[in-house]
Amino acid sequence: MEANQLGDDLKTVLISEREISDKLDEMARQIERDYEGRELLLVGVLKGAVMVMADLSRHLNRHVAMDWMAVSSYGSGTKSSGVVRILKDLDADVQGRDVLIVEDIIDSGLTLSWLLANLRSRGARSVEIATMLRKPDAAKVHIDVKYVGFDIPNEFVVGYGLDYAERYRNLPFVGLLNPHVYEK
Ligand code: XMP
Ligand code: MG
Repeated sequence: MEANQLGDDLKTVLISEREISDKLDEMARQIERDYEGRELLLVGVLKGAVMVMADLSRHLNRHVAMDWMAVSSYGSGTKSSGVVRILKDLDADVQGRDVLIVEDIIDSGLTLSWLLANLRSRGARSVEIATMLRKPDAAKVHIDVKYVGFDIPNEFVVGYGLDYAERYRNLPFVGLLNPHVYEK
């Protein structure tokens, strides 16, 4: 879906399709170097990471295995609580393996810090993180993130896998919505 088909839903394009693609290239080269000679399991976190996973994996000039998890960190409220529920677990056994979690965005970091601890407790040899976006000003816990695409302001973003009420995930860029969209 293109920006000109969005009417006035979109306030601005924050990160263009081209910028995303260039960044993925950079991240892929780093990952190839860092994991040279080792097997690698990419773990995508549904649903937001679908685009990053699909594109990052295709930028990699090497074999990787791919698996998926779906987690929910939002109980009754709207804020990330750090209490995480597994909606869909991995098919793979991560025991002894090098795992790279692939994420769309790190906001408070609470979901991810839980996920890191969970995968480490299953005996993974290493667990690292690759995220396309990060909001440094929203961080509630410190997480070492090995691969970061873009640090962005603490504003709600959509596109490239990220939704508002399940819309906009299929935008090929990252954008900011006009307030009238969510103030309706
Ligand atoms: P944490 O635990 O890091 O949660 O606070 C990260 C998850 O929250 C969602 N999220 C967003 N989704 N636009 C979105 O569409 C945003 O700006 C945004 N910030 C956080 C997302 O599911 C992410 O995995
Ligand atoms: Mg997510």
